[in-house]
Amino acid sequence: MDRIVIEGGHRLIGEIDVSGSKNAALPLMVASLLTEEPVILRGMPDLVDIKTTRTLLSSLGVEVSGDRDMTFRASNLDSMEAPYDLVRKMRASILVLGPLVSRFGSAKVSLPGGCAIGVRPINLHLAGLKAMGVDINLEHGYVIANGKPGGAKIVLDFPTVGGTENLLMAATLADGTTVIENAAREPEIVELANLLNAMGARIEGAGSEIITIDGVPELHGADWNLMPDRIETGTLMAAAAITRGNVLLKGARAADLESVVRKLIDAGITVEQEQDGVRISCADRPRSVDVRTAPYPGFPTDMQAQIMALMATSMGTAVISETIFENRFMHVPELRRLGAQVQIEGRSAVVRGIELLSGATVMATDLRASASLVIAGLAASGTTIVRRVYHLDRGYERIEQKLADLGAQIKREEE
Ligand code: EPU
Repeated sequence: MDRIVIEGGHRLIGEIDVSGSKNAALPLMVASLLTEEPVILRGMPDLVDIKTTRTLLSSLGVEVSGDRDMTFRASNLDSMEAPYDLVRKMRASILVLGPLVSRFGSAKVSLPGGCAIGVRPINLHLAGLKAMGVDINLEHGYVIANGKPGGAKIVLDFPTVGGTENLLMAATLADGTTVIENAAREPEIVELANLLNAMGARIEGAGSEIITIDGVPELHGADWNLMPDRIETGTLMAAAAITRGNVLLKGARAADLESVVRKLIDAGITVEQEQDGVRISCADRPRSVDVRTAPYPGFPTDMQAQIMALMATSMGTAVISETIFENRFMHVPELRRLGAQVQIEGRSAVVRGIELLSGATVMATDLRASASLVIAGLAASGTTIVRRVYHLDRGYERIEQKLADLGAQIKREEE
């Protein structure tokens, strides 16, 4: 198993490319199930979750080729089943449910189960499909879905990202019109709807609370450039800020993470959209700012751990509240090992900023928590060792290389 070793105290200076978005790529890859024609996705990130999705699609019979630019051809499927062994590795595997029932009228997908950050049920995905007339049964740990979806009006109890994506894909080939109310509004939803429309779907309103989908008889292939990863962008911003750096994040779109940019500006950090990307610079110690996670356009839960690392060395006290997942503070005890002054009170963490963290060996149990430890390590005195790097490899492409290119003293080594 690999670990990351960081000598803190080096400013990040320079330019770096932002990778393609993990959380957009996963549903886009799955959308290829909706057509027999090839779907080409360009600018894919090299991540473990992408490989897992590729393996899943291949196991269904999708022909997949390419690397950065991938081609998916789902002309003849061998199977309609997403097995437990793949779904347990990556919960987003549940996204095959909508497209499979939409195109073939049947699917069998393992129930994902919980994960480190929360229980993460899929009841809203299933309720939506049922409302569309799909017969859903739970047997031996699997969701068994039968019947082609028809148009329906669906009001989501919560604007679930994966649920909105699953229903959006199910509705594209449905007989009739589907209206999804209280839909998720994340940029990744807009990206998926835009790809589906490029494949011949008729979707309106993506990015707003109400999405309307007129079902069409079939979809065709498409050639698509993947959007930049807004959470990688935010993570690199926090890393630049904590080292008082000056970094141009090439290809990044500030508009996709306005809530994060606003908080950084409130903290006294400079963030500007330039022609090539987003520049972040931070000359002085940031001020503490309160943060409350919320569905888009609110502050993303996927940036909560990273902003906490930044607040750990800011001036003043920050209250950071997590409203999306019930167990997403696992980084707190580890940040405390680095000297951070953090108290958890219910669903909030109170962070009293200190001047300097102190390097230590730490580990985390999920992707973004691991990223927050890397950020903290960049600003800590002495050596920080982050263990269980496989979490980072699920969602950050060559993060240690990117940070090293910007001047961090960071390397990966085998334990
Ligand atoms: N929820 C339900 N019922 C459902 C679906 C969701 O109660 O049927 C609850 C969840 O338990 C959770 C909340 O709704 O408390 C939000 O879940 P959502 O469905 O929106 O999240 P997701 O689709 O499972 C995606 C991202 C996550 C990100 C969340 C929230 C992907 C592949 N994953 O998950 O990304 O945190 O949206 O923005 O897009 C990450 O990248 O590190 C990550 C965890």
